[in-house]
Amino acid sequence: MTMAERWKEVRKIAGRQGPFAVDRDLFQIDGLAGEARQPIWFDCDTGVDDAIALLLLHQLDRFQLAGISTVAGNVALEKTTRNTLAVQALIGSEVPVYRGAACPLIRDQVTAPEVHGLNGLGGVELPEPALQVEALPAWDALYQAARKQGGELTLIAVGPMTNIGLALAKYKDLPELLKRVVIMGGGAGGGNTTPAAEFNIFVDPEAADMLFNCGVPVTMCGLDMTMKAYLTAEELDDLGRQGSTQARFARDCLQSALAYSLSLGQPGVALHDPAAVLFAADDSIFEAHPAWIRVETKGGPTYGKTVTDLYSDRKMEPRRHLVVTDIDRDRFKARLFDLMRRYGDGNRGSALY
Ligand code: BDR
Ligand code: CA
Repeated sequence: MTMAERWKEVRKIAGRQGPFAVDRDLFQIDGLAGEARQPIWFDCDTGVDDAIALLLLHQLDRFQLAGISTVAGNVALEKTTRNTLAVQALIGSEVPVYRGAACPLIRDQVTAPEVHGLNGLGGVELPEPALQVEALPAWDALYQAARKQGGELTLIAVGPMTNIGLALAKYKDLPELLKRVVIMGGGAGGGNTTPAAEFNIFVDPEAADMLFNCGVPVTMCGLDMTMKAYLTAEELDDLGRQGSTQARFARDCLQSALAYSLSLGQPGVALHDPAAVLFAADDSIFEAHPAWIRVETKGGPTYGKTVTDLYSDRKMEPRRHLVVTDIDRDRFKARLFDLMRRYGDGNRGSALY
């Protein structure tokens, strides 16, 4: 029985009383033939797995990407912005890119070169992109897009939440204008940057807490699930063998993160951000639970922990968020490979890489 079938069974048994009693209409945006494309805003700190997430986003027919914003995180802002533009060029996309925050709201900046390399793309050098970043700041651009979409915009955020915190501080009506928010960050269990905190939340805990408190349902694609969304060394090689420029780039830029993960005894490289994007597109291969979530912002060893446990948080109100806890890895891999195959199997765009 697949994970999705198992989940369906449990949901049937639990009825609407149990932890699976999620309002599917709110979270399911699986496209049916003829259905309008879902407007999406993508906020990222490109980063090797952000780069793969971008490659997938552009192949998802059910999405219409309205804009992309960058934030400091895996590497400094000028690099995350440059990387985003360079990956956009590799795709051949002209979706506008907006520069966001260069540092967290309150705490000192933290980066992750040990995972993403000094340039943020695992040492892979992409040509200088001809695309230019837009003049409008990320938080203003996000708000304008949300207004334009009249409450239909889904925000996918896979970096520190600084841009979102700034947008929420500046535009009080933003929460009413967002349909939902899907993030990669946090987890109900432990962290990956400290024993308590996941990287994206640790980098800007205060901004993340603003998001969980703003009234919009947030789906937390955290480490509970994303650590299971990995590719082994052999699977990455298989991906590269698809032959397209984009698939070869994906294989190559993930090599240093793969080596880092293997050195920690993990079975492969976790594709955190791609998993969040695929959840937003179709949640049928995932398991998720309603939850109350706050972020620990007082400092000390638990600074940046997403406080929820899918147990005692049932006593808390409101429980409007979702914690994604599981993924069917085989089907995740199949989706990822299918989407990447759309880039073809030859040398299209090979001058770019
Ligand atoms: C998250 O942190 C970053 O290093 C990755 O891009 C991902 O968004 C994983 O903890
Ligand atoms: Ca990221």
